[in-house]
Amino acid sequence: MTQVLRLTDLIADGKLSGKRVFIRADLNVPQDDAGHITEDTRIRASLPAIEQALQAGAAVMVTSHLGRPTEGDLKPQDSLAPMATRLAELLGRDVPLIANWVENGVPIAPGQVALLENCRGNKGENKDDDALARKMAALCDIYVNDAFGAAHRAQASTHGMAKYAQLACAGPLLAAELDALGEALGNPKRPLVAIVAGSKVSTKLTILRSLADKVDQLIVGGGIANTFMVAAGLPIGKSLVEADLVNEAKAIIDAAKARGASVPIPTDVVTAKAFSASARAEIKRVEAVQPDDLILDIGPETARALAAQLEKAGTIVWNGPVGVFEFDQFGNGTKTLAEAIARSPAFSIAGGGDTLAAIAKYGIQDQVSYISTGGGAFLEFLEGKKLPAVDVLEQRAAQLA
Ligand code: 3PG
Ligand code: MG
Repeated sequence: MTQVLRLTDLIADGKLSGKRVFIRADLNVPQDDAGHITEDTRIRASLPAIEQALQAGAAVMVTSHLGRPTEGDLKPQDSLAPMATRLAELLGRDVPLIANWVENGVPIAPGQVALLENCRGNKGENKDDDALARKMAALCDIYVNDAFGAAHRAQASTHGMAKYAQLACAGPLLAAELDALGEALGNPKRPLVAIVAGSKVSTKLTILRSLADKVDQLIVGGGIANTFMVAAGLPIGKSLVEADLVNEAKAIIDAAKARGASVPIPTDVVTAKAFSASARAEIKRVEAVQPDDLILDIGPETARALAAQLEKAGTIVWNGPVGVFEFDQFGNGTKTLAEAIARSPAFSIAGGGDTLAAIAKYGIQDQVSYISTGGGAFLEFLEGKKLPAVDVLEQRAAQLA
């Protein structure tokens, strides 16, 4: 994996005792209209860094972004107050929330932790302003980036600050994400099978292209599969399709074939006449799809064939449900693949909001080897892009070497 300094290494070397440690976490979690946290995975995933730093005797400051507020004008709904409360519950200790921390500083002692208000409230955060980055870096001795979910953003708290802090390292969550993704894509146990599904080819074109060069099977699903079916000369009725990308789909199929890999095309599908929770589902051969049909899931024969591939895989990368699984009558494909991933001895890695919802719905959380906390960051990693937050930590590590 990429060479970055790790918090665990610094702790093992006794470097945290009495030091001021600044942790950039990603506590950007969903909330309901009243501001209650509806899903706290990212908060729980952020605990190890905080606990380890406290235990090592550091004074610990934690910050995160929440949403996309206007800099210099935080509204009550932009506040990290609910996250401070949840952190306090999970850590079993007080977690004061500190506002205006760039100007006023952070009054904490070793063994204490404080949450610093939404870092996107600071002027210059989003454009990675150098002056802001230097001011934030001066608040600490050690900068820890543990915000994998925001690692694709080059902002003052995710990128600039890492240049100026005395020491800059990856927290345990960021390190675990990089290890898991690096293992899945860097030197994978074969066969490597990727599932890339979702409504549009256009939003995942780079990922499809990048994976077509690496995987043994590229399973496409959802609206993406429709465009590939058209590329294979099959009827798709009035299903969602991107006609201008049919040639791209053909090129991806050919690129995979040229390497001895494949992009399996469904042989049967589940259709309906309308997109709705009460729509009647019909299973049919792909050749029998009618002009007024909408394809809303893969059929049982296709699902079984793909499940068999997944059970034989060495590594599985999963992003996107293959059907409209929110409606049960169109959920069988996603459920069948989810269960196959759960059964498979493969090293499996999954990420993205819809995928996590499917994993939760079918209850396979504990059987997926690694579930990423990244949305956009997970996708950019799959695209083969360098994540700015990781890039800067690598540069800092290279300077130490
Ligand atoms: C996310 O929710 O994907 C991350 O927290 C990043 O948020 P952003 O897209 O607002 O940068
Ligand atoms: Mg498994």
